[in-house]
Amino acid sequence: MTSLLMMLAAAGTSTEATFWMPEGASTVAPDVDGLFDFINLICYIFFALVVAALIWFAIRYRQRKGQHTFEGGPTHNMALEITWTAIPTVIVVVMFILGLQTFLDLRTSPGNAYDINVTAQKWSWTFQHPEFAVTEAAELTVPANRPVRLLMGSQDVLHSLFVPAFRVKQDVVPGRYTSLWFEATQPGTYQLYCTEYCGKDHSLMLATVHVLEWDEFQAKMGKLAREYEEIPESQLPSYALTRLYNRCASCHTLDGSSSTGPSFKGLWERTAEGTTVFTDGSTLADLQKPGGVYDIPENYIRASLVNPQAHIVQGYTGAMPSFQGQLKERQIDALVLMIKHLDKLVDDQGNILENPDLGSETPQEGAADDNG
Ligand code: CUA
Repeated sequence: MTSLLMMLAAAGTSTEATFWMPEGASTVAPDVDGLFDFINLICYIFFALVVAALIWFAIRYRQRKGQHTFEGGPTHNMALEITWTAIPTVIVVVMFILGLQTFLDLRTSPGNAYDINVTAQKWSWTFQHPEFAVTEAAELTVPANRPVRLLMGSQDVLHSLFVPAFRVKQDVVPGRYTSLWFEATQPGTYQLYCTEYCGKDHSLMLATVHVLEWDEFQAKMGKLAREYEEIPESQLPSYALTRLYNRCASCHTLDGSSSTGPSFKGLWERTAEGTTVFTDGSTLADLQKPGGVYDIPENYIRASLVNPQAHIVQGYTGAMPSFQGQLKERQIDALVLMIKHLDKLVDDQGNILENPDLGSETPQEGAADDNG
């Protein structure tokens, strides 16, 4: 059976896109495509046979003029009936065995797999590399020619991770782990989708998969692991905007337009002035009186990241998940600084400026120093 699959499967490490299938760039892609082509071919053959017989019988046994009853002809044919039962049964069993084999291959990750933890939440993907203490958002970097195992969990609703080029797809379910594995065969860039309708911005829940040779992969992991520690304070706002904001982008715009959450544009002004109104009708200013929980306004931004359900802004539903434990302290600093200096980091339309001028307000003293 396997040899049949092998024969049907395209040789080589990656396969070109066809009419039916996108480019294939994993070890299981040839098996999946071979099985698909095999079943497809059988469907073509039987479609042709059935339609040809249909047309032939319609002509051969049509009702002729003056003929009202059909007389004669066979009512049973044991040999024929056994044939058309036995042949499809054998074909279906072959399909089942080939399918089961590929399914088991897809389900059974090799023991030497490289582990990555995946967190899905409305509407972004977070990927953690325990081996390198690296966290990526909306980007997944994996080594080529080494099995990779994803251990996946959801913070909220059902999502599903799908990389068409790798021919792998698996639901990500709240309250339990699911996993999938693949071995990418070709360095390059591939698209990762959420393929389970998970709410308003499901179609924006995307990530890019970067497949790198092992040496380059290790170098990139080393760089990412040190990234936010080595960035000078003055670069933190830009770092947050280019490297962390993509986790916020599906809900928080930069141009002032309302989305699932309030726009980041003007957020700092609303926070510093206390004009934000919450669903219970109270305002942020009530909490900012001397001795109040947010007498240091930066603490409101921090609380919104780690405990977003504490205060829901009026007009919104409180869809935000907590980023507690997902962001390092220095990354929270960076995000607070980004929000404080956003007017200098983006233009009026919310486009990220290439060389922002943070001027004399360069935040040397850290995030929480100039309280208001
Ligand atoms: Cu997550 Cu669709």
